[in-house]
Amino acid sequence: GTALNARRPVQQRQPRRGAAPVRAAYAQIGHTDRTHESMNGPGSAYRQGGAGKKLPIAYSPEWMALREHTKEIESLHLRDLLMDEERTDALIHEHNGLYVDFSRQNINETTMQLLLNLAERAKLRTKMNAMFAGEHINNTEDRAVLHTALRAPRDSEVFVDGENVVPDVWEVLDKIRDFSERVRSGEWLGATGKPLTDVVAIGIGGSYLGPLFVHTAMQFDEQCKDRASGRKLRFLANVDPVDVAKALNGLNPETTLVIVISKTFTTTETMLNARTVRTWLTAELGQEAVAKHMVAVSTNLKLVKEFGIDPENAFGFWDWVGGRYSVTSAVGILPLALQYGFEKCEEFLRGAHDIDVHWRDAPFQENIPVLMGLISIWNSTFLGRSSVAVLPYCQALSKFPSHIQQVAMESVGKQVSIEGEPLPFKAGEIYFGEPGTNGQHSFYQLIHQGRVVPCEFIGTIKSQQSVYLKGELVSNHDELMCNFFAQADALAIGKDSVSLRAENVPEYLIPHKTFSGNRPSTSLLLPSLSPFRVGQLLALYENRVATQGFIWNVNSFDQWGVELGKVLASRVRTMMHTARTRSRRITITDGFNPSTRKMINRYLDGKNQ
Ligand code: F6P
Repeated sequence: GTALNARRPVQQRQPRRGAAPVRAAYAQIGHTDRTHESMNGPGSAYRQGGAGKKLPIAYSPEWMALREHTKEIESLHLRDLLMDEERTDALIHEHNGLYVDFSRQNINETTMQLLLNLAERAKLRTKMNAMFAGEHINNTEDRAVLHTALRAPRDSEVFVDGENVVPDVWEVLDKIRDFSERVRSGEWLGATGKPLTDVVAIGIGGSYLGPLFVHTAMQFDEQCKDRASGRKLRFLANVDPVDVAKALNGLNPETTLVIVISKTFTTTETMLNARTVRTWLTAELGQEAVAKHMVAVSTNLKLVKEFGIDPENAFGFWDWVGGRYSVTSAVGILPLALQYGFEKCEEFLRGAHDIDVHWRDAPFQENIPVLMGLISIWNSTFLGRSSVAVLPYCQALSKFPSHIQQVAMESVGKQVSIEGEPLPFKAGEIYFGEPGTNGQHSFYQLIHQGRVVPCEFIGTIKSQQSVYLKGELVSNHDELMCNFFAQADALAIGKDSVSLRAENVPEYLIPHKTFSGNRPSTSLLLPSLSPFRVGQLLALYENRVATQGFIWNVNSFDQWGVELGKVLASRVRTMMHTARTRSRRITITDGFNPSTRKMINRYLDGKNQ
């Protein structure tokens, strides 16, 4: 088996180019360029200078060389760069069926070399090794980060605080296999003796978006579809009563299994929805039905028990799995195994593991998640492009952009370094996306002629579906993929006034019809969208984001930025409750500013009308 966190030989040093001109600048800020200093434990920045002063990566010669290099790149156009076949070949990478083309990025050989130098300066390899070694790299919560262990083969070893956690991982997986088989075969019956054919998974954020993305991706895979026959899987995330109504619409409590998914088991929305759905079940089937109809996925088994779910019916995971990285834990595997059978989940886990191993072992110059991360840093931090559009030409990946939005934005959307120092640059990007071709008829206008938005096109060689009517193919995957190829070139090459004039376009329309081009994109081509490929895609993006966090030197595994809103919501909740019970208006002394007070009063008045 593979020891996933085994120490790897240190990567060969890359020859460093372009650093010399910036050494002077580096000296100016009082530091010498020393590249051999050692890491001070996980998460610590490299130290520079005799005084042991920590120096942000942004003051390193490698960083400055990249800044300097932007001028060269800004003078080049993708229209010309794309004609260079050697450059194209160097920028196409393949790993186990995954084909990735970076040739439409605003980069050349020097850019890549300078980015690899930056990775070395940031001690990327050391930080990755610390992660795989189970060190507590999430320093603000004092936790290891080992979602990669969730997909490690049964016979591998991953150590957290001196203990191999792989047997624990597989104990939960075996329990999921057993439970899902019993439910699916009808051995596990509901309170009135009926098989449980439908599942409602209650959870939000990382306890929702990942499982929803994978479910949507598997739904129309031929084999998954067969295995899901006669079964329904619904998700309930929002506290909006409409979401509750939508999730329960048409379901019969007698045949419904409810999974409460929450790492903490304290998330307000999830707990409220769990209570609502428990009432929906028990109103019809009685209190005892909870034992047969409700199960939980959580790290907090104490609260699961207090809620009234038998810990026997709980599926655990561990504090070393972040919420947004939990789709390969019971968070995703339980609902997916119930819907599609456990073997399909194993294929998905194998795909994720395949990329974990590639990320861990491949030299950086061939390492696809590392290269994606580096290019993202180049686009955002150096070229000032603050967003990323994830554009799957694959309807089954319609929920992938939303999942990656959380993975990326909650991970690296940070204001300070891992040591708590303000960042002298902007980390993180704004992620958004929609499947093509739908997006083309919506926001692509801006992408083609407005702001520069680096795009990530994802396509598959084979479709999950072919639609035949009376023996004739009516829905053509090639048609979809023509757009996948065309859009990337339209962005890169554009269209100038000369060609417009040659087409006799009237002069007054020429500015409107001109496309500047030189707009970057990456194209990712998968053989198909099998569960294995879905796993690869997931781990590719997870590891790419981790790469970026390591280089920007932020903690990608905490999320303090979500706390303030929760605290304020709780104050509003308490106040509303008081206002309702005492039927009084809110006054300024309640601690709300006039704007909030007026708006809440308007809301409460409106409710009473
Ligand atoms: O509020 C953000 C967050 O903490 C996410 O990080 C997490 O995925 C989500 O809430 C749900 O948390 P839990 O699984 O504990 O209910």
